[in-house]
Amino acid sequence: MYNEIDLDRIDINAKPPIEEPDRQYYYMAKCREWVRKFEWENGRKPTAFTQTFGCQMNARDSEKLAGILKSIGYCQAKDEEADFVIYNTCTVRENANNKVWGRLGYLNAYKKRHPHMKIALCGCMMQEAEVVEKIKKSYPFVDLVFGTHNIYKFAELFADSLAQERILVDIWKDTDKIVEELPVERKYGFKSGVNIMFGCNNFCSYCIVPYVRGRERSRKPEDIIAEIKGLAADGVVEIMLLGQNVNSYGKNLKEPITFAELLKRIQDIEGIERIRFMTSHPKDLSGELVEAMGKSKKICRHLHLPLQSGSSRILKAMNRHYDKEQYLSLVEKIRKAVPDIALTTDIIVGFPGETEEDFLETMDVVEQVGYESAFTFIYSKRTGTPAASMEDQVPEDVVKDRFDRLLKRVQAIAAIKAEKRTGSIEPVLVEEVNEQDKTLVTGRLSSNFVVHFPGTEEMIGKIVNVELKECKGFYFYGEAAK
Ligand code: 5AD
Ligand code: SF4
Repeated sequence: MYNEIDLDRIDINAKPPIEEPDRQYYYMAKCREWVRKFEWENGRKPTAFTQTFGCQMNARDSEKLAGILKSIGYCQAKDEEADFVIYNTCTVRENANNKVWGRLGYLNAYKKRHPHMKIALCGCMMQEAEVVEKIKKSYPFVDLVFGTHNIYKFAELFADSLAQERILVDIWKDTDKIVEELPVERKYGFKSGVNIMFGCNNFCSYCIVPYVRGRERSRKPEDIIAEIKGLAADGVVEIMLLGQNVNSYGKNLKEPITFAELLKRIQDIEGIERIRFMTSHPKDLSGELVEAMGKSKKICRHLHLPLQSGSSRILKAMNRHYDKEQYLSLVEKIRKAVPDIALTTDIIVGFPGETEEDFLETMDVVEQVGYESAFTFIYSKRTGTPAASMEDQVPEDVVKDRFDRLLKRVQAIAAIKAEKRTGSIEPVLVEEVNEQDKTLVTGRLSSNFVVHFPGTEEMIGKIVNVELKECKGFYFYGEAAK
């Protein structure tokens, strides 16, 4: 396994290898030399802090950054008072960008007091040319900027940036490369995300993701299976398969394979007890997948199925390739095949041209489906997307009013759905000791609901049967079943 490569055996005075991932291991060895020098001069190991913004894909990328940092000798810091700070950014909505700008202001002040400190920015926001220009102009104290396509080159970029005073910027427009076998430092021992594909080809008209994450690329099934087998051997019992549109997995591989087929192969891996996946696009959700979910003992009883809008007219303008009726009949099909499934969704309010009637169509779908939970978003204009130049942007006060009405209904329905599960006994994967009350542990049901119940640290990573005693809206209090 590459994870076990001994960096000390790499000759850093030789020329860097051309092939990946060997090239990155060479640069990790170089960075390690630098870290040793730091230790010798400062009498301690350097510390690094990685802050992730945005989705689970970014969280997984951050684990890869953490893996490389650990290999080269950094200790993890718990906040920004560290020798090295990395922000792995998101740009899906404007407020994601604003968070980063705000925190960079704070970092500037900290770096003035600690001039040796290094700052790196990576992730989706860095794929926007205006962002990089702004950093160069107004945030010159940043040391390194890279993007989503070259994250595997982190060790090389870091080594290069250590050798220069000025900011180092390396952003690629796209890539067809997937580099495997670099170190990963997992946040949890018992569960892990697994990338199955990168990028997105859908171009929903409001969404910036296809521009910053590039075209769809699937990993080979053998590589995915090998990674999951390795994780299972390492104690992982739950995996989350990650992709912007997992339902179109495998279509562009040399030997095409469906997502449902991939799931069937993963199910056979011993030690893996639970399989989740994210995100499903309704237009590509196949009958084969619904059937596989119905039959499976390992695929979790949870499906995240973004609706975005309940109005067929708005869905067309969003370029979603389904209408209200198709969405509702898909839900019916899924519920029939998997009766106890929990459905969750994403909804955008205030897309350009959205009228009160359109909004009421969304409310109608929310009533008809009865989601266990829903993420509701106010439409955010993203430069370069088709929706940004659409006329009829909806006034802020109208959007806010719709958003509040939607959220209220979503929460009320979710509470009713949760309440119905009270009294049942369900398997729970224990994730952590409860922060507020150390006599409790917190875990998740297959349906993704959270439950707190009396327990001890030793239970972490185990699946325990729990009776759901009391519903608190979107979570439960329970007791381990006798
Ligand atoms: N404005 C608001 N929400 C958005 N999303 C994506 N782009 C935008 C945008 N421009 C939401 C979608 C998607 C989720 C990850 O983020 O609902 O499913
Ligand atoms: Fe964005 Fe649509 Fe791709 Fe999801 S499927 S990432 S919403 S373009």
